[in-house]
Amino acid sequence: MDEIGRIMGERKSAGIISVGSAVPEKKLTNADLEKIVDTSDEWIRTRTGITERRMARSDEATSDYATKAAMVALERANLKPEDIDLIIVATVTGDHPFPATASIVQQALGAKCPAFDLGAGCSGWVYALSVANSFVTNGTYKKILVIGADLLTKITNWTDRGTCILFGDGAGAGIVAEVEPGKGMLDFELGSDGAGANVLMVPAGGSRIPCTPEVLAEKLDKIVMEGREVFKFAVKIQGEATERVLSKCGMTTADIDLVIPHQANMRIIDSAINRLGLPAEKIVVNLDRYGNTSAASIPIALDEAIQTGRVKKDDIIVTVGFGAGLTWAAGVMKWVY
Ligand code: ACO
Repeated sequence: MDEIGRIMGERKSAGIISVGSAVPEKKLTNADLEKIVDTSDEWIRTRTGITERRMARSDEATSDYATKAAMVALERANLKPEDIDLIIVATVTGDHPFPATASIVQQALGAKCPAFDLGAGCSGWVYALSVANSFVTNGTYKKILVIGADLLTKITNWTDRGTCILFGDGAGAGIVAEVEPGKGMLDFELGSDGAGANVLMVPAGGSRIPCTPEVLAEKLDKIVMEGREVFKFAVKIQGEATERVLSKCGMTTADIDLVIPHQANMRIIDSAINRLGLPAEKIVVNLDRYGNTSAASIPIALDEAIQTGRVKKDDIIVTVGFGAGLTWAAGVMKWVY
């Protein structure tokens, strides 16, 4: 598209042309958790569907996994870091409060481009895809690395059995670029309800409650969650957001080939399957092995689906996430490779 086309509002189509992911080697099983808090493998499996999750080492940070996932995506696309025009990292567990983890990833990759973080909890990767979609379709950037990366075990309260059993670490990356018209990302449904800000949060460490020895002793720098409230919200919003984004595309659930939901709890995923009336084989589930990896959960599951041959060219794929904010994000894609 030339400059006039850009001014006149001609829009390109943007899609994901490559995906990669990276998770820590170390597994933390339900049996391991039984030794840490008063819980059982049976309770965790029946209430959440999780069997094990991955855990980063104490000397590792979010950018390490974000960079690894990005390198896999770049290699699969046969691209070099200098081909990337923008890096977005969706995360709530950046290496530091600042600078942005995206800048650290940029340096680690050897890329020369703008970079910023985006925080929308577990919805972050789908939010970031929608941002990348806008930049590519309006011609601002050509190739964008969209990374979802979180090490939630670094902000887990290991004395709280209601949360510590849920979370795991990892990263997933997608490269967004121009694709054939009418393919790639078709539409998004993004949302936020700040009335639920306090049901899932890390209370301290920001400007509201800076860290002090007292705050640290109370573990207010760790995840605090009202599980039942998040559960009710998730069950409702997953189905609603999916139906809304499908209707924006003039589609119904019958058009869906595959759903990649945020991997939080099997009972939440089951409720969406029931509401949408979809057969279980159309839903990608890997939370049994990774737990809830926050912004990384959807790209890790997508990568696994691609690598195991569950994604085919021209498939209609729905990604749907929900998380801290409270936020939600759903997207519809016509897969391009
Ligand atoms: N082991 C054994 N018992 C437990 C455990 C545990 N690990 N955790 C809680 N319990 C107990 C509770 O103490 C409670 O006991 P009580 O009845 O004697 O008080 C009982 O089990 C039931 O507790 P609930 O909280 O009602 O259990 P629930 O069925 O709601 O499951 C869970 C809890 C798994 C946390 C669920 O609410 C959930 O998955 N919520 C959504 C959480 C989520 O997805 N969060 C992430 C959002 S995404 C993001 O941005 C990070």
